[in-house]
Formats: sequence, C-alpha cells, structure tokens
Amino acid sequence: MREKLDLIQKEALDNIEKAGESNSLEEIRVKYLGKKGQLTQILRGMGKLAPEERPVVGQLANQVRQVIESKLTEKGREIEEIVLAKRLKEESIDVTLPGKKPSLGKLHPLTTVLNQITEIFLGMGFDVAEGPEIELDYYNFEALNIPKNHPARDTQDTFYINENILLRTHTSPTQIRTMEVQEPPIKIIVPGRVYRSDAVDATHSPIFHQIEGLVVDKNITMGDLKGVLDVFAKAIFGPKTRTRFRPHHFPFTEPSAEMDVSCVTCDGQGCRICSNTGWIEILGAGMVHPKVLEYGNIDPNEYTGFAFGMGLDRIVNQIYGIDDIRLLYENDIRFLSQF
Ligand code: PHE
Repeated sequence: MREKLDLIQKEALDNIEKAGESNSLEEIRVKYLGKKGQLTQILRGMGKLAPEERPVVGQLANQVRQVIESKLTEKGREIEEIVLAKRLKEESIDVTLPGKKPSLGKLHPLTTVLNQITEIFLGMGFDVAEGPEIELDYYNFEALNIPKNHPARDTQDTFYINENILLRTHTSPTQIRTMEVQEPPIKIIVPGRVYRSDAVDATHSPIFHQIEGLVVDKNITMGDLKGVLDVFAKAIFGPKTRTRFRPHHFPFTEPSAEMDVSCVTCDGQGCRICSNTGWIEILGAGMVHPKVLEYGNIDPNEYTGFAFGMGLDRIVNQIYGIDDIRLLYENDIRFLSQF
C-alpha cells in the first residue's frame, strides 16, 4: 500500500511538472484527487484493511494529498506568471512610433477669398446681409427699375420657376429687401449664389457668385463709390493695383460704371489672362437710381446712395491664376488640395 501511494505521488508530481497550461492541471487534479480519483479510491478502500493499518495508511494518504495539492497550487501560479508575461510582451505598445496624422480638410478657394473680401468691407464699417436665392420677379427686376418687357431682361438668361418666381440672376434684389426694412444709413455687402441659364464653358457657369454692395446716406457721392472700391481693390489684389471706371448702363443705377483693375498676373503689361489689355473687369456699379430708392421707401430728395455688384468667381480666378471657372464647381480633390 505504501509503495502504491508513493507511486501515485511520484506519478502525479511528474505530470504536474510537465503540465503546460492550467487546463491540464485541472485534469491532473481530477485524476488523482477527484471523486473518482486514484487517491480517493484508496481512501475509500481502507475498510478492507486491517484495523491497525488504517491510521497509518490514512495518514500517509493525507500526506500524499497535501503534497499533490501544494504542488498543484505552486505550478498553477507559475503558469499564471508565464501567461501574464507572455501577454504583456505581446500587447506592449511602442510609444516611440510616430503617430498617424489625420488628414485636414481645407477651405474652398471661393470661401477663402469671400472671407478675405468680407473682412475688408467689415473693416470699412459694412454689415453683411443675405437674401433668398429663389426670388420674386418683383425684387429681381421690377423694383430695380426693370419692368416687364424691358430689354435688359434678355441679357439675364433667367431660370423661371413660374411667372412670378425665379432663381435670382444677381444679388441686387437684396438692395430692395434691405431698404424696405432698414432706415439709412445703410452700409451692407451681400454675398451669395446667383443663377443664369448660360451654356457652360471656361468663363460661364449657370451658377456663380456675386457680392453686392449698397451704401445709402445723406450726401453720398460718386467720389465715395470710387474711394471705397479703390481701397477694396488694393486690399484684395495688392497695393500696386490701379483701378479705372468706364461708363456703362444699368437700369438701377444712374450714372453707372464698370470698374477694371490692373491685371494681377502681368501688373498691367498685357498677357494671356487679360487678353493683352492690361485690365480685368471685376464689377458693375453706380449711384442708386432715384426710382430704386423710392421702391425701397427711401426719399431720393433726402438720401443718395451707391451700389456695386462684383463677380466673386472672377476675382478668385485672378488671384490664383485659374483659367477655367468649371474647376471651382467640380470639387476635384486634386484641384482643391492645391489651395
Ligand atoms: N447686378 C449687376 C449685374 O449683375 C451688377 C451691379 C450691381 C451693377 C449694383 C450696379 C450696381 O451685372
């Protein structure tokens, strides 16, 4: 019996030593110490022994159980430590590796330049106003002194929604909308999208952007108009920029003018961009027509004003040397990421 117990102990300790993971340790425990385990069987069979042998064998069997148990615990801890060390090694992070940079979005060149233009006018005391892109015929034409059947309507290639509603062809309707709700002094710019049913090519898009300007107060003159726009041109295109005003006609201003700036690309020398003229036309302007002031409920005997409307897309293209307006609307990331 003693030999048998010795054998069980030796075999069990051997197995424990060889065990690799806690799973097989559990198997070993069941095999020797479980309900049907080898050691348990011996203790159960003690009834068959002679009475004087029983305490001796019992003590011995208990010793063996203790040895096996403590060896199991010891090996269990060892395995736990190995597993932990392995995990720590596998899951370690190299904090010296360079991080992954998230790619940053950029502002569209139209937005960047609009922000710059807005800053310049805010600096001269202007406020920013907005108006609807879906507009009434009344505001887009009628109240701007362009009655039905007026030839100027032809030049605007209007998208009509119905007889009275259209997509605004310019930002000028916001002149009337502002005058209706605000008493002079008025000093606003109105940036926004406008629509004309032009065929698409390098210089025409059915959707483009204008920035309207309106100043109404006592004693406003053409000199104020020229001064403000000259300051603006030098601020956006650079201090060397020259401006010139050419007579023009708009139904809603009198007198009217168009303003050219010296070509940014060739400094007025003449190049491909300015068709060798040295000048680029960027806006229409003029003194607000007395009839338009009246449509805005402002007394033309008391107040005068000037207005202008500039093409944002053209200005953006001048600044960046872009020769095709379509690039501004295709949202090709290879194009946009250059700015
Ligand atoms: N609305 C005119 C256009 O679209 C520009 C303009 C605005 C001219 C204000 C004079 C005064 O061409």
